[in-house]
Amino acid sequence: MKELKVGLIGAGFMGKAHVVGYSNTPKLFAPAPVRPIFKTVCDIDEAVAEEAKERFGFEKSTTDYMDIINDPDIDIVSVCTPNDTHAEISIAALNAGKHVLCEKPISNNPEDAKAMADAAEEAKKKGIISMCAYQYRRVPAVVLAKKFVEEGSIGEILNIRTQYLQSWSADPNSPLSWRFQKKYAGAGALGDIGTHVIDIAQYLAGDIDEVVSNVRTYIKERPVQEGGADLLGTVKIDGDAEKAPVDVDDEASFLVNFKSGAVGSIEATRNAWGRNNYITIELHGTKGSILFNYERLNELQVCFSDDPDDRRGFKTIYTGPAHYYGDVTWNIPGMNIGYGELKTIESYDFLKAVVEGVQPSTTFAEAYKVDRVCQAVLKSSSSRAWEKVQ
Ligand SMILES: NC(=O)c1ccc[n+]([C@@H]2O[C@H](COP(=O)([O-])OP(=O)(O)OC[C@H]3O[C@@H](n4cnc5c(N)ncnc54)[C@H](O)[C@@H]3O)[C@@H](O)[C@H]2O)c1
Repeated sequence: MKELKVGLIGAGFMGKAHVVGYSNTPKLFAPAPVRPIFKTVCDIDEAVAEEAKERFGFEKSTTDYMDIINDPDIDIVSVCTPNDTHAEISIAALNAGKHVLCEKPISNNPEDAKAMADAAEEAKKKGIISMCAYQYRRVPAVVLAKKFVEEGSIGEILNIRTQYLQSWSADPNSPLSWRFQKKYAGAGALGDIGTHVIDIAQYLAGDIDEVVSNVRTYIKERPVQEGGADLLGTVKIDGDAEKAPVDVDDEASFLVNFKSGAVGSIEATRNAWGRNNYITIELHGTKGSILFNYERLNELQVCFSDDPDDRRGFKTIYTGPAHYYGDVTWNIPGMNIGYGELKTIESYDFLKAVVEGVQPSTTFAEAYKVDRVCQAVLKSSSSRAWEKVQ
């Protein structure tokens, strides 16, 4: 079987997710496109890099990502570092002829995001593949929703409502990691999780044309955390610790008008007690409706207008082998997939694209488009007016 050598940059939460995705690809997909070989892992924290090497089975570890870029033996690079570093690392990797799977959001500012999209376009001419990790549109139930839309089963889309609600930052003692600082993250809940549902909304209903928003920061300062990984609210620092200001949003909600004429609303917050990874999509069309909730990841609900009056309502489709592409995973609907398998679907798409030389979706250009919607949302929160996506 063909082998591709992997360099992983950033060995925190997402670093682990990419390792799970790559290592499971040949186990869950038959025929497997490739066997990934874990060559080098990089983290600026030496202990994290060394631990990742041992735990994940990399041959080498380093604290300098240029060791990966300069290694001619490495074919693919996963960029799993905070948002401010994505552009520098991804562009260096693309210029060195590596295929790049970069985490979302594509960057922490629109200039870098554009530079990444341009670099990816140039690299594509030389057969180099790049992909941004908006994995939620690869959920089989969301792919099925797209199929219903494309087939016209729910008619013309009138309205799409999407939400991404979490609770992990609702505690004010949750520290000021990179995720709460504009210079690293670019934006708060909007950039971190709002971007996922913007991507899904545009995947299902086409490009967003204009937005009007409310953006709020509820917790104005947090206990200082010097560097290191963001621990997603799992660690608290007591009330006497030194505090510093938060300069990103806790919550963003906005109305959107699509170029197609459809309307919609999008909400993102990390301060909603009781909500964990609550991604919902509700689509209303002229001939039916579609409902998805990530916390019921294997299910899609659909309702069709031409069902008889006395039995019209949502029915639940349990996704399974009929909805998986390739030969992914388990044979019986209801055996279900989870987050690890979703990241494996993403890895499979990326590795297959590299082997076949065909650019997959969630391109850097599409990710730049998501970033431009975020910029319009932030602009509207200051201007208090509708803003065009530039
Ligand atoms: N696709 C998703 O659903 C999803 C989920 C979570 C995070 N993310 C994205 O993944 C990226 C990483 O997030 P995370 O949650 O894994 O963060 P994290 O804080 O858990 O890990 C980041 C790691 O990168 C290391 N690092 C920082 N700068 C570096 C550099 N210059 N070179 C090498 N290593 C460096 C840190 O030491 C840390 O170990 C972010 O862009 C985030 O938005 C995506």
